[in-house]
Amino acid sequence: QAWSREQRYTALEQVPADTLRELQAQVAASPWRQGYHVQPPTGLLNDPNGFCFWRGQYHLFYQWFPLGPVHGLKYWRHVTSPDLLHWEDLGVGIAPDTPYDSHGAYSGSAWPLEDELLIAYTGNHRDAAWQRTPYQLTAHWNGTLHKDAPFLSGPPAGYTEHVRDPKLWAEEGEFFVVLGAQREDETGAALVLRSPDAREWSLVGELHTGLREFGYMWECPDLFHLDGADVLLICPQGLPSQGERWRNVYQSGYLLGQLDRETWQLTHGDFAELDGGFDFYAPQTTLGAGGERLLVGWMGLPDMTYPTDTHGWAHCLTLPRVLSVEGGQLRQRPWPGLVALRGEAQDAKAKAGERFELLLRPGAGPFSLDLRVDGPNYTRLSFDGEWLIFDRSHSGELPELDKAGLDGGKGGHIRRVAVHEVRELRIFSDTSSLEVFVNDGEQVLSGRIFPGPDAAWVRWEGSGECTVWPLGETE
Ligand code: FRU
Repeated sequence: QAWSREQRYTALEQVPADTLRELQAQVAASPWRQGYHVQPPTGLLNDPNGFCFWRGQYHLFYQWFPLGPVHGLKYWRHVTSPDLLHWEDLGVGIAPDTPYDSHGAYSGSAWPLEDELLIAYTGNHRDAAWQRTPYQLTAHWNGTLHKDAPFLSGPPAGYTEHVRDPKLWAEEGEFFVVLGAQREDETGAALVLRSPDAREWSLVGELHTGLREFGYMWECPDLFHLDGADVLLICPQGLPSQGERWRNVYQSGYLLGQLDRETWQLTHGDFAELDGGFDFYAPQTTLGAGGERLLVGWMGLPDMTYPTDTHGWAHCLTLPRVLSVEGGQLRQRPWPGLVALRGEAQDAKAKAGERFELLLRPGAGPFSLDLRVDGPNYTRLSFDGEWLIFDRSHSGELPELDKAGLDGGKGGHIRRVAVHEVRELRIFSDTSSLEVFVNDGEQVLSGRIFPGPDAAWVRWEGSGECTVWPLGETE
C-alpha cells in the first residue's frame, strides 16, 4: 500500500473511532506481537525519547505514527514503569499541535527536575512548499504538558535543515544539550548548547571529534561520562559498508575517550557499533534508580519494510541494557531485573516456546546453535573460531531494505562479529526478536525474526551447558 502525503499527515483526532478500532483489531491479530518488549498499540514506533527516572518511576516515550507502518506525522507516546519490565501506557505524550511541531514532534529527551520533567525535542515544521524548518523546543510535564517557545529556530549558520534530536542533561547547576546536525558541506556533526536556567540557551558550537567527514548526517547523539571515560553515541547516515562492518542501512555506534569541557574536543578511539545485529538504531541513555547508565534502542531501522507492515504495525524497543566501561571497553549487559521474568529452568532439548531466555556456555572451539526451529525454519548462531555469526536467512519472513542498490554491501541476512572465544551467550527470545549478549556484555547482536507459530525448538548438540527459562508476558 502506498501512503499519500495527505494520509501520512493525518492527525489522530481526524480519524473516526471505528477506523482506529479496526486498526487495533488488525494489529492485535498479528502473530508477531511481542510479549515483553515495548511496542506500539498500532502504527509505527521508532526512536526511544525522554527516557528518565523520576519519583520512583521510569518514564519512556517513543516516536510514534499511530495510523500505519510508515513514517508520517510523529507523536511521542508515553509509557512508565517501576521496574523496566512492566509498562503502563499513558497514551500520547506530545502531540504535534503547534506551528513549531506541525509536521512532527521529533526526537528528544527528558531531564528529571524536582517537580516536573524538563523535555527538549525537535519540532518539525514544513511550509506550503514543503520546506522544512527545525525548531528546538523545551516542554514541561508533571501530569500535563506545557510547551515553551523554541530555544533554537531553524539551523544555525553553516548547517542545513537537518538539525534535530536534542539530548539534555544538567551538570553543576547548568543545562546542556547535544544536537544532531548536518553541515552545509553535507557532513554530519554534533552541536552543543548551554543554558543557566533551561530558558536562555546559547550555542557553544560543534563538539569536535576526529571524524570530520563521517557520513552525511548524525542523528540522535548522546553524551555522558561513565567510569572515568566520556562516551559520545551517534547515528551516522551514509557510511558505506566495509567488509563485515556497517552492513545495516544506517549505523549506531560510539566514540570512547576524554572530553575537554573548555574546548569541547573529544579525544577518542575508533567508532564502534553498539550492536552487531540487524535491527538497532537511535538509542538513548539515562541514569537509572541506582545511578547506573541505562540504554534503550529502537529495534528497527528507517528505510526498511518489515513483515508486520501488513498487520498495521512496525517495530519495538530493545530490552534495557546497563552500560559500563571496563578495561577501556564499553560493555552492555541486559538489565539485571530481567531475571524476575524467568519461569522454571528447563533443558534445552524440551520445547522452548517463543519467549525465553537461554544461557549457553558452549565450551572451547566452534559450535552451532539453532533457535526458533520448526521444519525448514531456524535462526542460527554459530562460531567458527574467529567470527560469531548471526544468520537469520532461514528464520521465516524477512525484513528488506527499501532502497535496492543503495550500496552493494548493505542488507543481507547474515552478520558476523569478530570474537576470540565465546565463553557465554545470553539470549532473549521474544515472539519476533532475538537479542544476543556475548561474553557478559562484550558484544550484543539484535535482530527481528518472523517465523511461523511453531518455531519453538532449540537445536543444541554441543557438550556445553545450555539452560532455558520460559519468559512471561508483561503487558
Ligand atoms: C531517527 C530520526 C530522528 C528524528 C526522528 C523522526 O530515526 O530520523 O533523527 O528526530 O527519527 O521520527
